[in-house]
Amino acid sequence: MTTDTQAPEVLRQHAEDAFAAELAALAAQDDRPRPERWRLSPWAVATYLLGGELPDGTVITPKYIGPRRVIEIAVTTLATDRALLLLGVPGTAKTWVSEHLAAAVSGDSTLLVQGTAGTPEEAVRYGWNYAQLLANGPSREALVPSPVMRAMADGKTARVEELTRIPADVQDSLITILSEKTLPVPELGTEIQAVRGFNLIATANDRDRGVNDLSSALRRRFNTVVLPLPATLDEEVDIVTRRVGQLGRSLDLPELPGGAEEIRRVVTVFRELRSGVTADGRTKVKTPSGTLSTAEAISVVTNGLALAAHFGDGVLRAGDVAGGILGAVVRDPVADQQVWREYVEGVVRERDGWKDFYRAAREHSR
Ligand SMILES: Nc1ncnc2c1ncn2[C@@H]1O[C@H](COP(=O)(O)OP(=O)(O)OP(=O)(O)O)[C@@H](O)[C@H]1O
Ligand SMILES: [Mg+2]
Repeated sequence: MTTDTQAPEVLRQHAEDAFAAELAALAAQDDRPRPERWRLSPWAVATYLLGGELPDGTVITPKYIGPRRVIEIAVTTLATDRALLLLGVPGTAKTWVSEHLAAAVSGDSTLLVQGTAGTPEEAVRYGWNYAQLLANGPSREALVPSPVMRAMADGKTARVEELTRIPADVQDSLITILSEKTLPVPELGTEIQAVRGFNLIATANDRDRGVNDLSSALRRRFNTVVLPLPATLDEEVDIVTRRVGQLGRSLDLPELPGGAEEIRRVVTVFRELRSGVTADGRTKVKTPSGTLSTAEAISVVTNGLALAAHFGDGVLRAGDVAGGILGAVVRDPVADQQVWREYVEGVVRERDGWKDFYRAAREHSR
């Protein structure tokens, strides 16, 4: 059952609920012009995403950590008649940014179409309530609007996740929506016209390229913004630390000593294996087949915290993250296992202060 007030026990709150206080403070102090039906000005939307402090001292936590310009361009795009395509390798916060943008612009991040190879046209346009349809024929009441149609009618932000996984003919139904800003309903001899405030954010994964490429006609309707991998070790450590803190609180995990050290270690291992060279630039290492994304680093540390909290001695230790790292690195049991073994023996073994991790890594790969 749905009610207007979110029950606090939901496992994961929508961004607009989880950060309702920040959004309200921003709306109250935002005196810049707002595009029609926007809850906030573009400046305030960017501040919501990037963090900052308001004149009355309210602290806005950063949601996205990365280049300011990326967010500014994304927000600006939403205020134009072009849709926004967030592109990037896995785990670069495409979904996360899309949710927070929709929450800040429209106060609603739930008008979402999940793209899969089986996404039907009804998910993008509209469907029918068959009982109604059979009883009374096609009527407005029998029509089941898609999230995109609802966003058009209400002047809100629609979201399409994993756009390039959607079959090409279904993708194409977005072309009319984005260029004409209308959605014809021939069965009723009518159409839905988008009202001002409507726009669309799509996400797509670099690695899916070639699965269902975007047609050039559709691509032209989008401004593409590429979300980069974190530029430096410190930046990635910062991202993981913040997200692990938030996730840990929502899972009721205690804050454990040792966390900062292990986070730095996990991120160091991920970055070295991802880039194929050690942090000091001296030693080449082989790259495993997995993506080793920031998102995976976050879950390795969160799992490690849970292990330490439930079965450990109250300190996050190398042994609590080693298993998770191994699971993230070794996707292909033969080739990746070899890559990992070489890394452990060639790099981890020699490194100052990493004896505990070396021991734990060997323990786990047996
Ligand atoms: N630069 C960043 N700033 C803040 N959080 C980040 C950043 N990069 C990754 N994250 C975190 O990583 C997690 C995963 O991000 P998300 O699911 O949005 O990735 P994605 O790009 O959609 O990945 P996929 O391609 O697998 O769908 C989120 O919890 C997000 O907070
Ligand atoms: Mg995603």
